[in-house]
Amino acid sequence: MEQYGEKDVIILAIETSCDETAASVVKNGRKVLSNVIYTQIALHTRFGGVVPEIASRKHIEKINQVIREALDQAEVTLQDITAVAVTCGPGLVGALLVGVSEAKAISFAAGIPLVGVHHISGHISANYIEHEDLEPPFVCLVASGGHSHLVVVRDYGQYEIIGRTRDDAAGEAFDKVARAIGLGYPGGPKIDRISKEGNPEAIPFPRAKVADNEYDFSFSGLKSAVLNYLNSCQMKGERYSQADVAASFQKAVIDVLVEHSLHAVKAYGYDKFAIAGGVASNSSLRETFQRECAAREIAFYSPSPLLCTDNAAMIGSAGYYEYVRGVRSGYDLNAVPNLKLDAV
Ligand code: KG4
Ligand code: ZN
Repeated sequence: MEQYGEKDVIILAIETSCDETAASVVKNGRKVLSNVIYTQIALHTRFGGVVPEIASRKHIEKINQVIREALDQAEVTLQDITAVAVTCGPGLVGALLVGVSEAKAISFAAGIPLVGVHHISGHISANYIEHEDLEPPFVCLVASGGHSHLVVVRDYGQYEIIGRTRDDAAGEAFDKVARAIGLGYPGGPKIDRISKEGNPEAIPFPRAKVADNEYDFSFSGLKSAVLNYLNSCQMKGERYSQADVAASFQKAVIDVLVEHSLHAVKAYGYDKFAIAGGVASNSSLRETFQRECAAREIAFYSPSPLLCTDNAAMIGSAGYYEYVRGVRSGYDLNAVPNLKLDAV
């Protein structure tokens, strides 16, 4: 059993913002004692994407079991828990509400503080779990299904967004292109896999620049270019290679993410860079950042793939830093679907 003393801060963390029902016990922000994830992916696959109403219902069904498993695997009881941290936004409102209500009930029943956590702050904090040496400030690229942000992490929980997407998030583009070429949901991991058999130089898809902010992203033009390419193949009666389209699309996304991110790291004068969010689990993106950061003498950090996609351990880490800063949420804590990163 993991040893802990009175001074240790043990956080029970809950995450239900989308299609993963997750709970975790984290010690002092960096040591994961348990990380239980019930994924609903199989349930949503036949609809081609997440159905919010189904997600909320499944969270309700699973949440108690997932929390019980997290406590059991960590070999703790509620008496050992210092505070309960929960994702309060952004995300699907009905899904978020399940976690927030559960966390309030536990906080009240066990008489322990409640800490609302921003989902993106969680994704960024996933980097602290496996990198004991990582401390702010650094630049972080957050690329998930809902967000593509370039963030300067000034201090724990202190963020400045310097770039964002003007239209689709990177993960959303992966999901839409995967659907268009018949790979289905969830698109990201499927494109990642099939791209290994394709030629990333086969089709010259565009690398979009955004005129008035060099750190902003735009992926809708790339998505349209892929759709146009598929259409023109169909009109000409030509077959296209799924693997070449996937690999060329993936390379176009990665090129832009890498160029903007590493330009920002240098321009802002930092020497540390991290990635976060579901898209950060992409194998080619990880290899490319590894190589390009090494070439520029930038220290590169990434969570392992399981901690890139939605989980509660990352919320436990972010929640710890909020807790030690003195942040406490009241029982009026609400689920906020479009919560801003600096508004918790
Ligand atoms: O962070 P996340 O789990 O949930 C959100 O907060 O959105 O990210 C999910 C997104 C989805 O769009 C999914 O297709 C994408 O991350 N994703 C990937 C990979 N694994 C997940 N994208 C590219 N390559 C992957 N291996
Ligand atoms: Zn997420």
